[in-house]
Amino acid sequence: MPSPEVLPGPATASASAAIPPIVAARGVTVVYKVGRVAVRALDDVSFTVQRGEFVSVIGQSGSGKSTLLHALGGLLTPTAGSIVIDGQDLASASDQRRTAIRRRSIGIVFQRFNLFPTLSADGNLRLAERIRGSNGGDPAHRRELLRLLNLEQRLHHKPLELSGGEQQRVAVARALINRPPLLLADEPTGNLDSENSRIVLGMLRRLNEELQQTVIMITHNPEAAAIGSRIISMRDGKIIADQPNESR
Ligand SMILES: Nc1ncnc2c1ncn2[C@@H]1O[C@H](COP(=O)(O)OP(=O)(O)OP(=O)(O)O)[C@@H](O)[C@H]1O
Ligand SMILES: [Mg+2]
Repeated sequence: MPSPEVLPGPATASASAAIPPIVAARGVTVVYKVGRVAVRALDDVSFTVQRGEFVSVIGQSGSGKSTLLHALGGLLTPTAGSIVIDGQDLASASDQRRTAIRRRSIGIVFQRFNLFPTLSADGNLRLAERIRGSNGGDPAHRRELLRLLNLEQRLHHKPLELSGGEQQRVAVARALINRPPLLLADEPTGNLDSENSRIVLGMLRRLNEELQQTVIMITHNPEAAAIGSRIISMRDGKIIADQPNESR
């Protein structure tokens, strides 16, 4: 009888190999042209992200972090390379198709909260549900998000009546209201004081741990990056390190 080592691998190993990654970026290059000057903001970047990961992307100012996030979010078309999100090829998609992919599969949170100032927190969430074409949304999911983000008592406040941290939590809820499999966040605590940063980061972590939300978060703050389960470091448009975060 053969030893266990020579038998085919366990079912879980072959099953996990068959699960496509939520993000597959290959050879992604972005060159910005400003007059005669060409800036290579991303240079041949390749990586994959599996469902349920929390990836922190860290690097100095100008290292290409936002450019990477914008490319992953379908907000810009790379000069070269391919990006497949949730099985859908972004780079070769038409503008219309890219918008459809973004609405279905990606939620984005920016450093500035970008809420509609005249709408309440609830109004901002309902608008996102309508834009993305869901019929009245998913009330159970909405309740769960509001509970996790501790916003139940703030639903009827307008953005100016909310603290920075609360506004950012509404922005996170809005990004997730239609259950996108991928959440992208660009310096989500960049405009927050340390207390509000701590609260927002804690909630992103809970969303990841309790709802298995896949998150890619950009930050230049090593403390914020430490909430990720994996840390990608960038320099001069390249990935210079990509490691699991043992300390989490
Ligand atoms: N729209 C643009 N046109 C021309 N150059 C750009 C543009 N956006 C970014 N760049 C350049 O590309 C490089 C990467 O910029 P990017 O915004 O991706 O960096 P970043 O890592 O997000 O920096 P920060 O931490 O300051 O936000 C920089 O050199 C920047 O000057
Ligand atoms: Mg940036």
